[in-house]
Amino acid sequence: MCGIFAISGTDDQAGQKVLAGLKKLEYRGYDSWGIALKYREKNEVIIKKEVGKISNIDQEFPPAQEAFGHSRWATHGGVTKENAHPHKFGKVTLVHNGIFENYLEEKKLFTEKFLSETDSEVIAALLDKNIAEICTQKQCIFPLLAGEGEGEVDQEFAKKIIFDAIVKTVEKIEGRFAILVFVDGVDGIFAARRGSPLILGRGKNETFIASDIPAFLKYTNVVNYLDDDEMVWVHQGEAVYQNMKSREIIQKRDIEVPWKEEQAEKGDFPHFMIKEIFEQKDTIARAINHDDEELLKAAKLLENCNGAYIVACGTAHKVAMVAEYYFARISGRKVNVVPASEMPDFERFINEKTAVIAISQSGETADVMEVLERSKKKSAKILALTNVESSSMARLADVHLAINAGPEKAVASTKAATSQMALAFLLAYADAEIRGISKINVGREILRSTAGIINDNLNPRYEEHIREIARKLFPEEKLFIIGRGTLYPMALEAAIKIQEVSYIPALAFAAGELKHGPIALIENGTPCIVLGSDLETISNATELKSRGARIIGVATKNDEVFDEWIRVADCDGAQAIASVIPVQILAYHLAIFRGLDPDMPRNLAKSVTVK
Ligand code: AGP
Ligand code: GLU
Repeated sequence: MCGIFAISGTDDQAGQKVLAGLKKLEYRGYDSWGIALKYREKNEVIIKKEVGKISNIDQEFPPAQEAFGHSRWATHGGVTKENAHPHKFGKVTLVHNGIFENYLEEKKLFTEKFLSETDSEVIAALLDKNIAEICTQKQCIFPLLAGEGEGEVDQEFAKKIIFDAIVKTVEKIEGRFAILVFVDGVDGIFAARRGSPLILGRGKNETFIASDIPAFLKYTNVVNYLDDDEMVWVHQGEAVYQNMKSREIIQKRDIEVPWKEEQAEKGDFPHFMIKEIFEQKDTIARAINHDDEELLKAAKLLENCNGAYIVACGTAHKVAMVAEYYFARISGRKVNVVPASEMPDFERFINEKTAVIAISQSGETADVMEVLERSKKKSAKILALTNVESSSMARLADVHLAINAGPEKAVASTKAATSQMALAFLLAYADAEIRGISKINVGREILRSTAGIINDNLNPRYEEHIREIARKLFPEEKLFIIGRGTLYPMALEAAIKIQEVSYIPALAFAAGELKHGPIALIENGTPCIVLGSDLETISNATELKSRGARIIGVATKNDEVFDEWIRVADCDGAQAIASVIPVQILAYHLAIFRGLDPDMPRNLAKSVTVK
């Protein structure tokens, strides 16, 4: 969940650069922040850390060529300065993303006093202990005197010992992790990962390590990916990779990512969320930019299996629910949709003939990764739809389809959701083509028309109309949303958007379900957002109205039952894509009227890389 960023370079600006890089990762966690600098003058490590958002920080740091930092999303230990990363224990300074699930049993083995309540500090302690034990075995003393003379540090010898100690340490860790490490007296930064992302940016005489690419896009778009069970030592422009199990040295390929720095910035928009909502003028068209061969390859993966599960979390799970309707309606395929965290009970049905489809913006969500890793062990076929081609899910999948939405930095997913739906819609048509029912181009034409209509609709006048409705609604203490067919998952998605950025308890129901209980909640003036204007939904809206509800219709045509109407273009089978956009805008403005930061809602982080 956290943001990690490091630089090993040649100028003395490492502290400033890490501060700037962490600010670009703040969406990954913003409870507290901290930076460790290897202070060249005295070869010691200086740590600065504080509770609160790093975006508010503007301070100078001592000259340093190497530094790393962390913006935290607390899991173990409250939000305090002591629990902020980096953590120093003995010779080791460390930042950590992930959960050390068995940390308490390891912590008991130490007599030394810990400064924090975190699981992360215990990793630093274990590593420090293991370095000392290995040095004892090799009869060398720290700082790793090897060969003749006092005070000499044999850096190569040191590197080997620290690699050994890292391997010994991570063997003890149950749970997903990404760690960065300084060791007193030893050049360079060490990093290791299993289950949490770390990506290296390769500069001319400098190397960056980060949780996500935007942190170093300003300097380079040439990257290497650290894979699970790998560790790396970086120093200035040099990087040495090693597999922690086989201990073999690994040569990594330089990959150029097609992102530019400005894509990961707000530009003229006040927040990433509204910028990304408006980027949907283009992203839906980009999502369908897949050649038929790629789509048919994905569809064939489904056809060669005799059962399919779509697993996802949060917004991506609502997209998965829409995809279930698409496969049923378009290609006549039954798929099962399960929130990734609920999959364990159903994994008994997964085998070599099962297709597991992962939908994820980040491609790193731990709950989904866990399912994919277990499914892979059962030889299931994995199809991933993600927004990050180099993500863990993309690299684990048998077939990966990129949604091409560009960096999505607001915690609330918007453009990624509509791009995922567009791609799922097209995949259903590819499935239908394989089955001789339809053609990919039929789906592509519908989506092209949808993208064009959305492009026309997304304009300041449309936003202003929705903003005025938000002005009336923001004081409300609860909101209801209903929808039918693919608009039912969109009602659930609307609820997530409104909940996570405005904190208003929004409750979503299938339109036909209201009279089976929830309608008891309706009082005079209760606001109800109604997605769609088909006969049955209008009938449900009328039932709500007769009990005093205030109806906000989000539909292709107005109706007398609507007290407010937000027009949505008619997008044929792709209606869910068009209907969710006005609710995204409504949620954004509800947050603004409530004086909240829609980009960084409380308690949340962009990518949930812990279970
Ligand atoms: C969506 O607005 C939320 N931020 C959250 O539900 C998110 O969709 C979920 O955590 C899944 O993330 P992913 O798409 O990166 O897997
Ligand atoms: N579990 C660690 C902590 O609570 C790391 C959390 C994170 O990944 O931000 O500090």
